[in-house]
Amino acid sequence: GLVNTKELFTKAMAGKYAIPAYNFNNLEQLQAIVQACVETKSPVILQVSSGARKYANATLLRNMARGATEYAKELGHEIPIVLHLDHGDSFEICKECIEAGFSSVMIDGSHLPYEENVAITKKVADFAHSQKHYVSVEGELGILAGIEDDVVAEHHTYTEPDEVEDFVKRTGVDSLAISIGTSHGPNKFKPEQCTRNADGILVPPPLRFDILEEIEKRLPNFPIVLHGSSSVPKEYVQMIEKFGGKVPDAVGIPEEQLRKAASSAVCKINIDSDGRLAMTATIRKIFAETPEEIDPRKYLGPARDELKKLYMHKNESVLGSAGKA
Ligand code: G3H
Ligand code: 13P
Ligand code: NA
Ligand code: ZN
Repeated sequence: GLVNTKELFTKAMAGKYAIPAYNFNNLEQLQAIVQACVETKSPVILQVSSGARKYANATLLRNMARGATEYAKELGHEIPIVLHLDHGDSFEICKECIEAGFSSVMIDGSHLPYEENVAITKKVADFAHSQKHYVSVEGELGILAGIEDDVVAEHHTYTEPDEVEDFVKRTGVDSLAISIGTSHGPNKFKPEQCTRNADGILVPPPLRFDILEEIEKRLPNFPIVLHGSSSVPKEYVQMIEKFGGKVPDAVGIPEEQLRKAASSAVCKINIDSDGRLAMTATIRKIFAETPEEIDPRKYLGPARDELKKLYMHKNESVLGSAGKA
């Protein structure tokens, strides 16, 4: 069955790696995630956003995720699988997911005034923790620049290290998402915040590891979460553009910085955009090269295989979660 994040994070902290949290909205993404994590023997957090629930239907997604544990076994290796609500924005959506069998939820009160964030997060944590099967809860402090839950923030509001201890104590959350310079989507920094390398590729400013270190001092051995952690591989951006698409000013988080984060108190790393780029690049290529193709399996299948390859690479070479399940 599905598991919560508790034991996974304890092991990840001790072993200095991070658990992958991959979003899914459809069958092919779920297949790719499970195949990649079984093949690399990695634990995994399957993330469902409210957008995913609207797109695919909440009941279908939840049952697909339940089926994933059995599917993993069929593929030849049992792995711990968490079903997690990504960016829950109300007590009601968290409650609905918890009652429907999610093993973990995020309550994202990061846009609220501090005391309101504490209150809503504590309410969710109290409810989640009182279930027969303990449901783990992720809270958030600090605001990621860019688009998050229909809210557009112009600038990063970095997590204030002086707040984290009080927040965790008063809410009882199991993990804390922080803002140290990452953001959602394929445009993580404005071009004017970056430099350019010899090939003209945008090089972003480094993440604020100094803030992460301060947070670790205030919360020793407490699981930290990084959202917005796609690397935006230039190979996929170039492939999309070669076959008629556009990804203007694409810039992500360099893998080296994610490796460093994974070796710290960061126990969960969220990745969605890179998967979108991998699937889009593959489908665009197939459409351009075989315009007569009309069977969705002939383009969704290769897109799924590319996604699997990408996630195997993340587990093996970036997060360090391969071989931990
Ligand atoms: O936090 C954002 C995730 O990438 C999910 O995106 O809300 O479009 O499903 P979504
Ligand atoms: P990316 O957009 O960088 O993939 O981040 C995904 C995320 O944080 C989902 O919660
Ligand atoms: Na870690
Ligand atoms: Zn996120």
